[in-house]
Amino acid sequence: MKLADNKATLSFSNGTPSIDLPVYQGSVGPDVVDIRKLYGQTGMFTYDPGFLSTASCQSAITYIDGDKGELLYRGYPIEQLATQCDFLETCHLLLYGDLPNTQAKADFTKRVTNHTMVNEQMQFFLRGFRRDAHPMAIMTGLVGALSAFYHDSTDINNPEHREISAIRLIAKMPTLVAMAYKYSVGQPFMYPKNELSYAGNFLHMMFATPCAEYKVSPVLERALDRIFILHADHEQNASTSTVRLCGSSGTNPFAAIAAGVACLWGPAHGGANEACLNMLEDIQRQGGVAKVAEFMEKVKDKNSGVKLMGFGHRVYKNYDPRAKLMQETCKEVLAELGLENDPLFKLAMALEKIALEDDYFVSRKLYPNVDFYSGIVQRAIGIPTGLFTAVFALARTVGWIAQLNEMISDPEYKIGRPRQLFTGSAHREVKPLAKR
Ligand code: ACO
Repeated sequence: MKLADNKATLSFSNGTPSIDLPVYQGSVGPDVVDIRKLYGQTGMFTYDPGFLSTASCQSAITYIDGDKGELLYRGYPIEQLATQCDFLETCHLLLYGDLPNTQAKADFTKRVTNHTMVNEQMQFFLRGFRRDAHPMAIMTGLVGALSAFYHDSTDINNPEHREISAIRLIAKMPTLVAMAYKYSVGQPFMYPKNELSYAGNFLHMMFATPCAEYKVSPVLERALDRIFILHADHEQNASTSTVRLCGSSGTNPFAAIAAGVACLWGPAHGGANEACLNMLEDIQRQGGVAKVAEFMEKVKDKNSGVKLMGFGHRVYKNYDPRAKLMQETCKEVLAELGLENDPLFKLAMALEKIALEDDYFVSRKLYPNVDFYSGIVQRAIGIPTGLFTAVFALARTVGWIAQLNEMISDPEYKIGRPRQLFTGSAHREVKPLAKR
Protein backbone atom coordinates (compact mmCIF):
# COMPACT_ATOMS: atom_id res chain seq x y z
CA MET A 1 0.00 0.00 0.00
CA LYS A 2 1.30 3.44 -0.91
CA LEU A 3 0.86 6.30 1.54
CA ALA A 4 -0.82 9.32 -0.11
CA ASP A 5 0.59 12.84 0.27
CA ASN A 6 -2.49 13.99 2.12
CA LYS A 7 -4.02 12.69 5.34
CA ALA A 8 -7.52 12.83 6.79
CA THR A 9 -8.25 14.79 9.95
CA LEU A 10 -11.18 13.72 12.06
CA SER A 11 -12.50 16.40 14.40
CA PHE A 12 -15.29 16.26 16.98
CA SER A 13 -17.76 18.93 18.04
CA ASN A 14 -17.57 17.97 21.74
CA GLY A 15 -14.01 19.09 22.36
CA THR A 16 -12.39 15.63 21.93
CA PRO A 17 -9.01 16.32 20.30
CA SER A 18 -8.97 15.76 16.55
CA ILE A 19 -6.85 12.97 15.11
CA ASP A 20 -5.00 12.44 11.85
CA LEU A 21 -5.65 9.32 9.85
CA PRO A 22 -3.31 8.05 7.11
CA VAL A 23 -4.64 7.87 3.55
CA TYR A 24 -3.44 5.13 1.18
CA GLN A 25 -3.52 5.06 -2.60
CA GLY A 26 -4.28 2.02 -4.71
CA SER A 27 -2.93 1.58 -8.24
CA VAL A 28 -6.30 2.80 -9.61
CA GLY A 29 -9.58 3.62 -7.91
CA PRO A 30 -10.52 5.48 -4.75
CA ASP A 31 -8.03 6.12 -1.94
CA VAL A 32 -8.78 4.68 1.51
CA VAL A 33 -8.64 6.27 4.94
CA ASP A 34 -6.87 3.93 7.37
CA ILE A 35 -9.02 3.77 10.51
CA ARG A 36 -7.29 0.82 12.17
CA LYS A 37 -6.05 2.94 15.08
CA LEU A 38 -9.34 4.85 15.49
CA TYR A 39 -10.66 2.74 18.35
CA GLY A 40 -7.34 2.78 20.17
CA GLN A 41 -7.10 6.56 19.87
CA THR A 42 -10.73 7.60 20.39
CA GLY A 43 -12.61 4.60 21.84
CA MET A 44 -15.02 4.88 18.89
CA PHE A 45 -15.91 2.52 16.07
CA THR A 46 -16.99 3.45 12.56
CA TYR A 47 -20.50 2.47 11.51
CA ASP A 48 -21.02 1.11 7.98
CA PRO A 49 -23.67 -1.62 7.71
CA GLY A 50 -23.65 -3.14 4.23
CA PHE A 51 -20.05 -1.88 3.78
CA LEU A 52 -21.11 1.05 1.61
CA SER A 53 -17.84 2.92 2.31
CA THR A 54 -15.56 0.23 3.64
CA ALA A 55 -12.60 -1.45 1.92
CA SER A 56 -12.32 -4.69 3.88
CA CYS A 57 -8.90 -5.63 2.48
CA GLN A 58 -6.27 -4.77 -0.08
CA SER A 59 -6.41 -6.91 -3.18
CA ALA A 60 -4.60 -7.12 -6.53
CA ILE A 61 -7.04 -9.45 -8.27
CA THR A 62 -10.11 -7.71 -9.68
CA TYR A 63 -10.86 -4.04 -10.28
CA ILE A 64 -14.28 -2.57 -11.00
CA ASP A 65 -15.01 1.00 -12.00
CA GLY A 66 -18.76 1.07 -11.42
CA ASP A 67 -19.29 4.49 -12.97
CA LYS A 68 -17.48 3.62 -16.18
CA GLY A 69 -18.84 0.07 -16.27
CA GLU A 70 -15.31 -1.38 -16.35
CA LEU A 71 -14.23 -4.79 -15.05
CA LEU A 72 -10.58 -5.90 -15.03
CA TYR A 73 -9.17 -9.26 -13.91
CA ARG A 74 -5.52 -8.65 -12.97
CA GLY A 75 -5.61 -5.58 -15.23
CA TYR A 76 -7.09 -7.25 -18.30
CA PRO A 77 -10.51 -5.97 -19.50
CA ILE A 78 -13.27 -8.55 -19.27
CA GLU A 79 -14.18 -7.89 -22.92
CA GLN A 80 -10.70 -9.06 -24.06
CA LEU A 81 -10.64 -12.07 -21.76
CA ALA A 82 -14.14 -13.16 -22.83
CA THR A 83 -13.29 -12.96 -26.52
CA GLN A 84 -9.61 -14.03 -26.59
CA CYS A 85 -9.12 -16.48 -23.73
CA ASP A 86 -10.83 -19.55 -22.35
CA PHE A 87 -11.97 -20.23 -18.80
CA LEU A 88 -8.93 -22.24 -17.70
CA GLU A 89 -6.61 -19.46 -18.92
CA THR A 90 -8.75 -17.06 -16.87
CA CYS A 91 -8.44 -19.37 -13.85
CA HIS A 92 -4.66 -19.35 -14.25
CA LEU A 93 -4.73 -15.56 -14.45
CA LEU A 94 -6.83 -15.15 -11.31
CA LEU A 95 -4.91 -17.72 -9.29
CA TYR A 96 -1.33 -16.97 -10.29
CA GLY A 97 -1.46 -13.35 -11.47
CA ASP A 98 -0.96 -13.69 -15.23
CA LEU A 99 -2.20 -15.44 -18.34
CA PRO A 100 -0.35 -18.69 -19.07
CA ASN A 101 1.90 -19.19 -22.09
CA THR A 102 1.33 -22.30 -24.22
CA GLN A 103 3.33 -24.63 -21.95
CA ALA A 104 1.87 -23.26 -18.70
CA LYS A 105 -1.62 -23.56 -20.16
CA ALA A 106 -1.05 -27.19 -21.11
CA ASP A 107 0.38 -27.97 -17.64
CA PHE A 108 -2.45 -26.22 -15.81
CA THR A 109 -5.13 -27.86 -17.97
CA LYS A 110 -3.54 -31.26 -17.32
CA ARG A 111 -3.45 -30.65 -13.58
CA VAL A 112 -7.11 -29.64 -13.50
CA THR A 113 -8.32 -32.46 -15.71
CA ASN A 114 -6.44 -34.99 -13.57
CA HIS A 115 -8.72 -34.07 -10.67
CA THR A 116 -12.16 -34.01 -12.31
CA MET A 117 -13.41 -37.24 -10.71
CA VAL A 118 -14.78 -37.15 -7.19
CA ASN A 119 -14.31 -39.82 -4.56
CA GLU A 120 -16.78 -42.58 -5.43
CA GLN A 121 -18.15 -42.37 -1.90
CA MET A 122 -19.48 -38.86 -2.66
CA GLN A 123 -22.39 -40.35 -4.60
CA PHE A 124 -23.63 -42.16 -1.49
CA PHE A 125 -23.54 -38.89 0.37
CA LEU A 126 -25.49 -37.27 -2.50
CA ARG A 127 -28.05 -40.06 -2.49
CA GLY A 128 -29.07 -39.02 1.02
CA PHE A 129 -30.74 -35.92 -0.41
CA ARG A 130 -34.35 -35.84 -1.56
CA ARG A 131 -34.60 -35.97 -5.35
CA ASP A 132 -36.38 -32.60 -5.34
CA ALA A 133 -33.76 -30.86 -3.15
CA HIS A 134 -32.67 -27.46 -4.45
CA PRO A 135 -29.30 -27.86 -6.24
CA MET A 136 -27.81 -25.10 -4.07
CA ALA A 137 -28.81 -27.02 -0.93
CA ILE A 138 -27.02 -30.02 -2.42
CA MET A 139 -23.99 -27.96 -3.46
CA THR A 140 -23.62 -26.39 -0.02
CA GLY A 141 -23.57 -29.91 1.43
CA LEU A 142 -21.33 -31.51 -1.20
CA VAL A 143 -18.68 -28.76 -1.25
CA GLY A 144 -18.53 -28.75 2.56
CA ALA A 145 -18.28 -32.54 2.47
CA LEU A 146 -15.16 -32.42 0.28
CA SER A 147 -13.20 -31.63 3.45
CA ALA A 148 -14.20 -35.05 4.74
CA PHE A 149 -12.83 -36.73 1.60
CA TYR A 150 -9.55 -34.88 0.99
CA HIS A 151 -7.80 -34.80 4.33
CA ASP A 152 -4.46 -34.11 2.66
CA SER A 153 -5.43 -30.60 1.55
CA THR A 154 -7.26 -29.05 4.48
CA ASP A 155 -4.47 -27.03 6.11
CA ILE A 156 -5.10 -23.48 4.93
CA ASN A 157 -1.72 -22.33 6.26
CA ASN A 158 0.17 -24.82 4.11
CA PRO A 159 0.79 -23.40 0.58
CA GLU A 160 0.88 -26.91 -0.94
CA HIS A 161 -2.48 -27.75 0.62
CA ARG A 162 -3.89 -24.46 -0.67
CA GLU A 163 -2.62 -25.23 -4.18
CA ILE A 164 -3.98 -28.77 -4.35
CA SER A 165 -7.33 -27.80 -2.81
CA ALA A 166 -7.60 -24.98 -5.38
CA ILE A 167 -7.04 -27.40 -8.27
CA ARG A 168 -9.41 -29.95 -6.75
CA LEU A 169 -12.19 -27.43 -6.24
CA ILE A 170 -11.92 -26.00 -9.78
CA ALA A 171 -11.78 -29.52 -11.24
CA LYS A 172 -14.57 -31.07 -9.18
CA MET A 173 -17.21 -28.33 -9.16
CA PRO A 174 -18.52 -29.18 -12.66
CA THR A 175 -18.68 -32.86 -11.67
CA LEU A 176 -20.64 -32.05 -8.52
CA VAL A 177 -23.08 -29.68 -10.26
CA ALA A 178 -23.71 -32.25 -13.01
CA MET A 179 -24.18 -35.00 -10.39
CA ALA A 180 -26.73 -32.85 -8.55
CA TYR A 181 -28.60 -32.41 -11.84
CA LYS A 182 -28.48 -36.09 -12.85
CA TYR A 183 -29.71 -37.07 -9.41
CA SER A 184 -32.69 -34.69 -9.70
CA VAL A 185 -33.78 -36.25 -13.02
CA GLY A 186 -33.03 -39.83 -11.99
CA GLN A 187 -30.38 -40.43 -14.67
CA PRO A 188 -27.06 -42.20 -14.09
CA PHE A 189 -24.10 -40.01 -13.19
CA MET A 190 -21.75 -39.48 -16.15
CA TYR A 191 -18.05 -39.65 -15.37
CA PRO A 192 -15.89 -36.79 -16.65
CA LYS A 193 -14.18 -37.17 -20.03
CA ASN A 194 -10.77 -35.61 -19.89
CA GLU A 195 -10.28 -35.20 -23.63
CA LEU A 196 -13.02 -32.57 -23.59
CA SER A 197 -12.58 -28.91 -22.69
CA TYR A 198 -13.64 -27.71 -19.23
CA ALA A 199 -16.99 -26.41 -20.57
CA GLY A 200 -17.38 -29.30 -23.02
CA ASN A 201 -16.87 -31.80 -20.22
CA PHE A 202 -19.53 -30.07 -18.13
CA LEU A 203 -22.01 -30.28 -21.05
CA HIS A 204 -21.12 -33.96 -21.42
CA MET A 205 -21.63 -34.75 -17.73
CA MET A 206 -24.94 -32.84 -17.79
CA PHE A 207 -26.52 -34.06 -21.00
CA ALA A 208 -24.88 -37.31 -22.10
CA THR A 209 -26.36 -40.67 -21.09
CA PRO A 210 -24.66 -44.08 -21.25
CA CYS A 211 -27.07 -45.18 -23.97
CA ALA A 212 -26.39 -42.61 -26.70
CA GLU A 213 -23.45 -40.80 -28.23
CA TYR A 214 -23.34 -37.14 -27.13
CA LYS A 215 -21.63 -34.58 -29.33
CA VAL A 216 -20.67 -31.30 -27.72
CA SER A 217 -21.89 -28.30 -29.75
CA PRO A 218 -18.98 -25.84 -30.18
CA VAL A 219 -21.36 -22.84 -29.97
CA LEU A 220 -22.89 -24.01 -26.69
CA GLU A 221 -19.45 -24.96 -25.36
CA ARG A 222 -18.13 -21.47 -26.13
CA ALA A 223 -21.27 -19.86 -24.61
CA LEU A 224 -20.87 -21.80 -21.40
CA ASP A 225 -17.16 -21.04 -21.27
CA ARG A 226 -18.04 -17.36 -21.58
CA ILE A 227 -20.59 -17.63 -18.76
CA PHE A 228 -17.80 -19.13 -16.63
CA ILE A 229 -15.33 -16.34 -17.53
CA LEU A 230 -17.85 -13.58 -16.83
CA HIS A 231 -18.70 -15.02 -13.41
CA ALA A 232 -15.16 -15.97 -12.37
CA ASP A 233 -14.50 -13.11 -9.95
CA HIS A 234 -16.01 -9.80 -8.88
CA GLU A 235 -13.84 -8.39 -6.08
CA GLN A 236 -15.29 -8.13 -2.56
CA ASN A 237 -18.94 -9.06 -3.22
CA ALA A 238 -21.08 -10.74 -0.55
CA SER A 239 -20.04 -14.34 -1.23
CA THR A 240 -16.34 -13.49 -1.66
CA SER A 241 -16.36 -11.50 1.58
CA THR A 242 -18.08 -14.49 3.19
CA VAL A 243 -15.31 -16.80 1.96
CA ARG A 244 -12.64 -14.43 3.27
CA LEU A 245 -14.34 -14.01 6.64
CA CYS A 246 -14.97 -17.74 6.98
CA GLY A 247 -11.40 -18.57 5.91
CA SER A 248 -9.96 -15.95 8.26
CA SER A 249 -10.63 -18.28 11.18
CA GLY A 250 -8.20 -20.76 9.64
CA THR A 251 -10.90 -23.20 8.60
CA ASN A 252 -10.16 -25.50 5.67
CA PRO A 253 -10.60 -24.24 2.07
CA PHE A 254 -13.53 -26.56 1.30
CA ALA A 255 -15.49 -25.26 4.30
CA ALA A 256 -14.72 -21.64 3.34
CA ILE A 257 -15.89 -22.20 -0.25
CA ALA A 258 -19.04 -23.96 1.01
CA ALA A 259 -19.81 -20.77 2.97
CA GLY A 260 -19.45 -18.81 -0.29
CA VAL A 261 -21.85 -21.19 -2.03
CA ALA A 262 -24.42 -20.66 0.75
CA CYS A 263 -24.12 -16.88 0.47
CA LEU A 264 -24.33 -16.90 -3.31
CA TRP A 265 -27.68 -18.69 -3.14
CA GLY A 266 -29.57 -15.53 -2.06
CA PRO A 267 -31.77 -13.78 -4.66
CA ALA A 268 -30.03 -10.43 -4.09
CA HIS A 269 -26.77 -12.08 -5.23
CA GLY A 270 -26.24 -15.22 -7.32
CA GLY A 271 -29.85 -16.33 -6.97
CA ALA A 272 -30.82 -13.37 -9.17
CA ASN A 273 -30.39 -15.32 -12.42
CA GLU A 274 -32.97 -17.88 -11.28
CA ALA A 275 -35.23 -15.13 -9.91
CA CYS A 276 -34.86 -13.20 -13.17
CA LEU A 277 -35.92 -16.13 -15.31
CA ASN A 278 -38.85 -16.87 -12.99
CA MET A 279 -39.87 -13.23 -13.33
CA LEU A 280 -39.72 -13.39 -17.15
CA GLU A 281 -41.74 -16.62 -17.16
CA ASP A 282 -44.36 -15.07 -14.85
CA ILE A 283 -44.79 -12.03 -17.11
CA GLN A 284 -44.92 -14.34 -20.12
CA ARG A 285 -47.71 -16.38 -18.52
CA GLN A 286 -49.66 -13.21 -17.79
CA GLY A 287 -49.54 -12.01 -21.41
CA GLY A 288 -45.88 -11.33 -22.28
CA VAL A 289 -44.73 -8.11 -23.93
CA ALA A 290 -48.26 -6.63 -23.68
CA LYS A 291 -47.98 -6.79 -19.88
CA VAL A 292 -44.57 -5.12 -19.60
CA ALA A 293 -45.93 -1.61 -18.90
CA GLU A 294 -48.20 -2.93 -16.14
CA PHE A 295 -45.32 -4.90 -14.59
CA MET A 296 -43.08 -1.84 -14.68
CA GLU A 297 -45.69 0.14 -12.73
CA LYS A 298 -45.52 -2.51 -10.01
CA VAL A 299 -41.72 -2.35 -9.97
CA LYS A 300 -41.85 1.41 -9.48
CA ASP A 301 -44.42 1.15 -6.69
CA LYS A 302 -42.35 0.83 -3.51
CA ASN A 303 -45.28 -0.82 -1.66
CA SER A 304 -45.51 -3.71 -4.12
CA GLY A 305 -42.19 -5.24 -3.08
CA VAL A 306 -41.59 -6.16 -6.75
CA LYS A 307 -38.10 -5.61 -8.15
CA LEU A 308 -36.91 -5.85 -11.70
CA MET A 309 -34.61 -8.83 -11.21
CA GLY A 310 -31.36 -8.70 -13.15
CA PHE A 311 -31.32 -4.91 -12.81
CA GLY A 312 -29.30 -2.78 -10.45
CA HIS A 313 -25.97 -3.37 -8.81
CA ARG A 314 -24.22 -2.12 -5.69
CA VAL A 315 -21.12 -1.14 -7.65
CA TYR A 316 -22.14 -0.64 -11.29
CA LYS A 317 -23.90 2.64 -11.82
CA ASN A 318 -23.59 2.09 -15.56
CA TYR A 319 -24.23 -0.88 -17.90
CA ASP A 320 -22.62 -3.99 -16.38
CA PRO A 321 -19.95 -4.89 -19.02
CA ARG A 322 -20.73 -8.56 -18.43
CA ALA A 323 -24.38 -7.97 -19.38
CA LYS A 324 -23.31 -6.66 -22.82
CA LEU A 325 -21.18 -9.76 -23.46
CA MET A 326 -23.95 -11.99 -22.18
CA GLN A 327 -26.48 -10.35 -24.49
CA GLU A 328 -24.15 -11.12 -27.46
CA THR A 329 -23.80 -14.73 -26.34
CA CYS A 330 -27.55 -14.96 -25.90
CA LYS A 331 -28.10 -13.94 -29.53
CA GLU A 332 -25.48 -16.47 -30.75
CA VAL A 333 -26.94 -19.35 -28.76
CA LEU A 334 -30.53 -18.63 -29.77
CA ALA A 335 -29.46 -18.44 -33.43
CA GLU A 336 -27.54 -21.74 -33.14
CA LEU A 337 -30.59 -23.44 -31.68
CA GLY A 338 -33.05 -21.82 -34.11
CA LEU A 339 -34.72 -19.94 -31.24
CA GLU A 340 -34.30 -16.40 -32.62
CA ASN A 341 -37.94 -15.71 -31.86
CA ASP A 342 -37.69 -16.95 -28.29
CA PRO A 343 -40.49 -15.11 -26.48
CA LEU A 344 -38.53 -14.73 -23.23
CA PHE A 345 -35.62 -13.09 -25.07
CA LYS A 346 -38.04 -10.70 -26.78
CA LEU A 347 -39.62 -9.98 -23.42
CA ALA A 348 -36.22 -9.31 -21.83
CA MET A 349 -35.32 -6.90 -24.66
CA ALA A 350 -38.65 -5.08 -24.20
CA LEU A 351 -38.13 -4.78 -20.43
CA GLU A 352 -34.58 -3.57 -20.91
CA LYS A 353 -35.62 -0.93 -23.48
CA ILE A 354 -38.35 0.50 -21.25
CA ALA A 355 -36.15 0.46 -18.16
CA LEU A 356 -33.27 2.21 -19.91
CA GLU A 357 -35.61 5.06 -20.90
CA ASP A 358 -37.67 5.29 -17.71
CA ASP A 359 -36.83 8.06 -15.27
CA TYR A 360 -37.20 5.71 -12.24
CA PHE A 361 -34.30 3.57 -13.50
CA VAL A 362 -32.30 6.39 -15.14
CA SER A 363 -32.32 8.57 -12.02
CA ARG A 364 -31.24 5.65 -9.81
CA LYS A 365 -28.62 4.53 -12.35
CA LEU A 366 -30.15 1.06 -12.58
CA TYR A 367 -28.83 -0.94 -15.54
CA PRO A 368 -29.01 -4.62 -16.51
CA ASN A 369 -26.53 -6.79 -14.61
CA VAL A 370 -24.96 -10.06 -15.78
CA ASP A 371 -27.93 -12.08 -14.58
CA PHE A 372 -30.40 -10.36 -16.87
CA TYR A 373 -29.37 -12.44 -19.89
CA SER A 374 -27.46 -15.38 -18.39
CA GLY A 375 -30.68 -17.19 -17.41
CA ILE A 376 -31.99 -17.07 -20.98
CA VAL A 377 -28.70 -18.49 -22.29
CA GLN A 378 -28.63 -21.26 -19.70
CA ARG A 379 -32.26 -22.15 -20.32
CA ALA A 380 -31.60 -22.35 -24.08
CA ILE A 381 -28.64 -24.67 -23.43
CA GLY A 382 -31.01 -26.92 -21.50
CA ILE A 383 -29.89 -26.11 -17.97
CA PRO A 384 -32.92 -26.09 -15.66
CA THR A 385 -33.70 -22.84 -13.82
CA GLY A 386 -33.02 -24.33 -10.39
CA LEU A 387 -29.45 -25.10 -11.44
CA PHE A 388 -28.49 -21.59 -12.62
CA THR A 389 -27.00 -20.46 -9.33
CA ALA A 390 -25.04 -23.71 -9.03
CA VAL A 391 -23.48 -22.93 -12.44
CA PHE A 392 -22.61 -19.48 -11.12
CA ALA A 393 -21.02 -21.11 -8.04
CA LEU A 394 -18.99 -23.42 -10.27
CA ALA A 395 -17.61 -20.41 -12.17
CA ARG A 396 -17.04 -18.22 -9.08
CA THR A 397 -15.11 -20.94 -7.26
CA VAL A 398 -11.80 -19.84 -8.82
CA GLY A 399 -12.40 -16.24 -7.72
CA TRP A 400 -13.24 -17.34 -4.18
CA ILE A 401 -10.07 -19.42 -3.99
CA ALA A 402 -7.85 -16.70 -5.49
CA GLN A 403 -9.23 -14.21 -2.95
CA LEU A 404 -8.90 -16.66 -0.07
CA ASN A 405 -5.32 -17.53 -0.98
CA GLU A 406 -4.46 -13.86 -1.38
CA MET A 407 -5.79 -13.19 2.11
CA ILE A 408 -3.91 -16.06 3.72
CA SER A 409 -0.65 -15.00 2.03
CA ASP A 410 -1.06 -11.40 3.22
CA PRO A 411 1.22 -10.82 6.24
CA GLU A 412 -1.33 -8.30 7.59
CA TYR A 413 -4.18 -10.83 7.64
CA LYS A 414 -6.11 -11.26 10.88
CA ILE A 415 -9.28 -13.09 11.78
CA GLY A 416 -12.22 -10.91 10.62
CA ARG A 417 -14.03 -9.56 13.65
CA PRO A 418 -16.40 -6.61 13.06
CA ARG A 419 -17.75 -4.67 16.03
CA GLN A 420 -21.19 -3.16 16.59
CA LEU A 421 -23.21 -0.23 17.84
CA PHE A 422 -25.01 -1.87 20.75
CA THR A 423 -28.66 -0.78 21.12
CA GLY A 424 -29.96 -3.51 23.48
CA SER A 425 -30.55 -3.46 27.18
CA ALA A 426 -27.70 -2.30 29.42
CA HIS A 427 -26.67 -4.44 32.42
CA ARG A 428 -29.63 -5.84 34.40
CA GLU A 429 -30.15 -8.53 37.03
CA VAL A 430 -31.89 -11.89 36.47
CA LYS A 431 -35.01 -12.20 38.68
CA PRO A 432 -36.00 -15.60 40.08
CA LEU A 433 -38.51 -17.38 37.79
CA ALA A 434 -41.47 -16.77 40.14
CA LYS A 435 -40.86 -12.99 40.11
CA ARG A 436 -40.53 -12.45 36.32
N1 ACO B 1 -35.82 -2.93 -9.30
C1 ACO B 1 -36.44 -1.83 -8.81
N2 ACO B 1 -35.85 -0.93 -8.02
C2 ACO B 1 -34.57 -1.13 -7.70
C3 ACO B 1 -33.86 -2.26 -8.16
C4 ACO B 1 -34.53 -3.18 -9.00
N3 ACO B 1 -33.91 -4.27 -9.48
N4 ACO B 1 -32.60 -2.23 -7.69
C5 ACO B 1 -32.51 -1.13 -6.92
N5 ACO B 1 -33.70 -0.46 -6.95
C6 ACO B 1 -33.97 0.84 -6.29
C7 ACO B 1 -34.08 0.69 -4.78
O1 ACO B 1 -35.41 0.42 -4.38
C8 ACO B 1 -33.58 2.03 -4.32
O2 ACO B 1 -34.61 2.99 -4.52
P1 ACO B 1 -34.77 4.26 -3.51
O3 ACO B 1 -33.49 5.03 -3.60
O4 ACO B 1 -35.95 5.00 -4.02
O5 ACO B 1 -34.99 3.65 -2.14
C9 ACO B 1 -32.47 2.38 -5.32
O6 ACO B 1 -32.84 1.69 -6.52
C10 ACO B 1 -31.08 1.97 -4.89
O7 ACO B 1 -31.06 0.56 -4.66
P2 ACO B 1 -30.48 -0.17 -3.38
O8 ACO B 1 -31.33 -1.37 -3.09
O9 ACO B 1 -30.28 0.82 -2.27
O10 ACO B 1 -29.09 -0.62 -3.93
P3 ACO B 1 -28.17 -1.74 -3.32
O11 ACO B 1 -26.81 -1.43 -3.77
O12 ACO B 1 -28.40 -1.92 -1.87
O13 ACO B 1 -28.73 -3.07 -4.03
C11 ACO B 1 -29.03 -4.88 -5.53
C12 ACO B 1 -28.17 -3.66 -5.15
C13 ACO B 1 -29.22 -5.79 -4.31
C14 ACO B 1 -28.29 -5.67 -6.60
C15 ACO B 1 -30.39 -4.38 -6.05
O14 ACO B 1 -30.20 -3.56 -7.18
C16 ACO B 1 -31.33 -5.54 -6.40
O15 ACO B 1 -31.97 -6.10 -5.52
N6 ACO B 1 -31.43 -5.92 -7.73
C17 ACO B 1 -32.24 -7.03 -8.15
C18 ACO B 1 -31.55 -8.34 -7.83
C19 ACO B 1 -30.36 -8.62 -8.72
O16 ACO B 1 -30.46 -8.53 -9.96
N7 ACO B 1 -29.23 -8.99 -8.12
C20 ACO B 1 -28.04 -9.38 -8.86
C21 ACO B 1 -26.88 -8.54 -8.51
S1 ACO B 1 -25.54 -8.93 -9.56
C22 ACO B 1 -24.93 -10.39 -8.96
O17 ACO B 1 -25.00 -10.74 -7.81
C23 ACO B 1 -24.29 -11.22 -9.93
